[in-house]
Amino acid sequence: MSLKEQVLDVLISHRGEDISGQDLAGRFHVSRAAVWKAIRILKEEGHLIEAGQNRGYRLLQSSDVLSEAAIAPLLNAPLDKTFITVIKECSSTNDFIKQCAAANAPSGTCIIADKQISGRGRQGRIFYSPSGGLYLSMLFRPSLLIRESAFITIAAAVAVCRAVKKVCNISLEIKWVNDLFLNGKKVGGILTEAAADLEGGMLEYAIVGIGLNISFDETLPEEINAIAGALYEKKPPKALRCELAAAILNELYELEQSPASSLEQYRTLSFLPGRMIKVVSGVRTGMAKALAITDEGCLLVEYEDHTQIALNSGEVHIVNVE
Ligand code: BTN
Repeated sequence: MSLKEQVLDVLISHRGEDISGQDLAGRFHVSRAAVWKAIRILKEEGHLIEAGQNRGYRLLQSSDVLSEAAIAPLLNAPLDKTFITVIKECSSTNDFIKQCAAANAPSGTCIIADKQISGRGRQGRIFYSPSGGLYLSMLFRPSLLIRESAFITIAAAVAVCRAVKKVCNISLEIKWVNDLFLNGKKVGGILTEAAADLEGGMLEYAIVGIGLNISFDETLPEEINAIAGALYEKKPPKALRCELAAAILNELYELEQSPASSLEQYRTLSFLPGRMIKVVSGVRTGMAKALAITDEGCLLVEYEDHTQIALNSGEVHIVNVE
């Protein structure tokens, strides 16, 4: 571990408290100048550290830089720091994990990024991923049949809802199949990508990618502003991204061990059943009423001619009935 990382570890475990330069220098057997240099780099990376003469250094409660030092200690076994990579930016966290999968990385390998340059959503859409959000992906090597793969996204949606409730006390809702909503706006989404053994009918691996809008500092592009929201309208009340990232990873890893068991909670959190929707892609497009989430994780809909179809993929829009 570099001196910078060691210093950050100490500041994180004493968040909000003053730690003298002399204390830090003594712990790591380096000069105070070396400590000062490490602090300068940490500040350049965005950590909010206050320094005062005769007071030492203090990591502010509001400092919200994603770091391995802050996330790793919050992970539940078997996850630990060897599973996680935390980076400032990447093209897409799913693409990063795809490379890990090709290099035989174990189930649970994950990456957390502050920003994505080419974040992807379902159906080839762009997922707007500015700095300050939470973008993470985890690799799984589940023993699942290809036809059971919908349960992976179902378990992931429940995992995010549970983690957000725990850490932020915010109740998200799920729009089948992979959208996370708050107050009628989409605040997050899940992109599950998989490789399969077609002959054996089994999944080889799955990548679960999760994107969450925490709060928007900047004005959003118009087309996004109409549909997208964030967990918080203004800055969150405290630094929470590291805590939230760890909680999501913990819930995700746990639920993905038996993904079908999340179905009941998924149904409870889903807000489409009972509502009029427009099915815009899939087996049959048109206006329909969403009836239920089936035991296979499909959306059962009834069209205007009373035909009922269980959609296992496709895109649906909510219709506002006057
Ligand atoms: C959707 O809205 O259709 C799904 C959005 C999924 C976005 C996440 S962000 C982390 C991971 N990396 C990506 O490129 N996409 C997913």
